[in-house]
Amino acid sequence: MARARSIHRCQECGATSPRWQGRCPSCGEWNTLVEELVVAEPSGLAAVATGPWAADRLESPQAITEVALDAVASTPTGVDELDRVLGGGLVPGAVTLVGGEPGIGKSTLLLQVAAGVARSGRRVLYVTAEESSAQLRARAERLGAVVEGLWVVAETSVARIGELLDEVAPDVVVVDSVQALVTPELASAPGSVAQVRESAFRLVTEARSRSVAVVLVGHVTKDGALAGPRVLEHVVDTVLGFEGDRHGGLRLLRAVKHRFGSTAEVGVFEMGEDGLRAVTDPSGHFLADRRTGVPGSVVAAVVQGRRPMLVEVQALVGDSSAGNPRRGAQGVDSGRLALLLAVLERRVGIRGLGALDVHALAVGGVRLEDPGADLAVALAVVSSLQNRAVPDGLAVFGEVGLTGELRSVGRVTERVGEAQRLGFTTVVGPGSTGGERIETLQDALSVADLL
Ligand code: TYD
Ligand code: MG
Repeated sequence: MARARSIHRCQECGATSPRWQGRCPSCGEWNTLVEELVVAEPSGLAAVATGPWAADRLESPQAITEVALDAVASTPTGVDELDRVLGGGLVPGAVTLVGGEPGIGKSTLLLQVAAGVARSGRRVLYVTAEESSAQLRARAERLGAVVEGLWVVAETSVARIGELLDEVAPDVVVVDSVQALVTPELASAPGSVAQVRESAFRLVTEARSRSVAVVLVGHVTKDGALAGPRVLEHVVDTVLGFEGDRHGGLRLLRAVKHRFGSTAEVGVFEMGEDGLRAVTDPSGHFLADRRTGVPGSVVAAVVQGRRPMLVEVQALVGDSSAGNPRRGAQGVDSGRLALLLAVLERRVGIRGLGALDVHALAVGGVRLEDPGADLAVALAVVSSLQNRAVPDGLAVFGEVGLTGELRSVGRVTERVGEAQRLGFTTVVGPGSTGGERIETLQDALSVADLL
């Protein structure tokens, strides 16, 4: 087969080189050259017409008042937590990337979604590029996803998938996973950045021209280092992140990018024997194993997406064996943790933290992105350091500033309401709480009995 020409492009400065080099000759960055396929394009106009939103005619400028409103027709998938995140459902011709660590449950989720769509009378093609059709069938049995209208094929070639779109004529195509796809013209291995990008781009072009809704599965590593899905973010319309503690049961689905709506919603699932189930009461779930009266444990009233949730934050402060104090953060931003420790030392006068090991985590595999979780982390650290539990029935929220002040955060009513719903009697945050003015971290420590 004739091989198309390839070049190597620096991912930092965009300079190209005919061969691979360890260091970009133009900007001097290391390991930034990535192989790319050169596709001969006859003219600039042709290049435009093959772009993702291929226009079959040239458009003249219009007054904005004359532009027709084109309501986005999204169709529900039948998996409510996903539809909530998408703000309705999947959009014909649009591409959704579902990223997550291996083993988190992407294939499970999408098989359930595929079955849900098929049940509503639409056709779905599930392309399994990692497993055999038989393995998929076995999984589908467990999930109750053996439904009419769901078509399955084990295939890795992008060209062949394009043909299958004509044969099957699906409304929705799921491709699991984009890392396993192959564009044979490209010399690099499946899963390499060049392959992933080229394969995804071709697939997206094929699907868009047929108005098929595409769902791509993409693996990401824990630190997001293997940037496969990252390079795809610009090619696709929607990026969903599926995350959680692989060993615990809870999974959070959130939109990272969404061309057709807000990125504020989160979906919460629980992984069970028969697949993923919606969790309608996340707080109850996060707090299910909590023991009260234990030092180092504080309940945070946070907002994840738009939903108020109560999450237990734990901290453990201990002697540093190596004389080289360690910092561990799980589900808590490590930069925030370092900042909170500095504020506790310098502004509140809690001495000695700099020489001790400090670990902090959010229970249940949640990743706390809400700055309103700061206060809980700070209190948990002090509670562990002093080996003193905070009062039962206490839930807290608030962002901690560099001067030790508590900064207000959004959705206070929802946070307080959620805490009260779960039986928390004292909710402490910036502002007045139970008659007392809480303005600083110090104020909060004193209400929590830690000063
Ligand atoms: P999977 O969907 O294969 O993850 P991914 O596609 O993201 O790599 O599922 C991961 C784990 O979920 C796997 O270890 C088995 C478990 N699992 C269940 O607990 N219950 C189920 O019903 C299914 C299908 C999987
Ligand atoms: Mg999988």
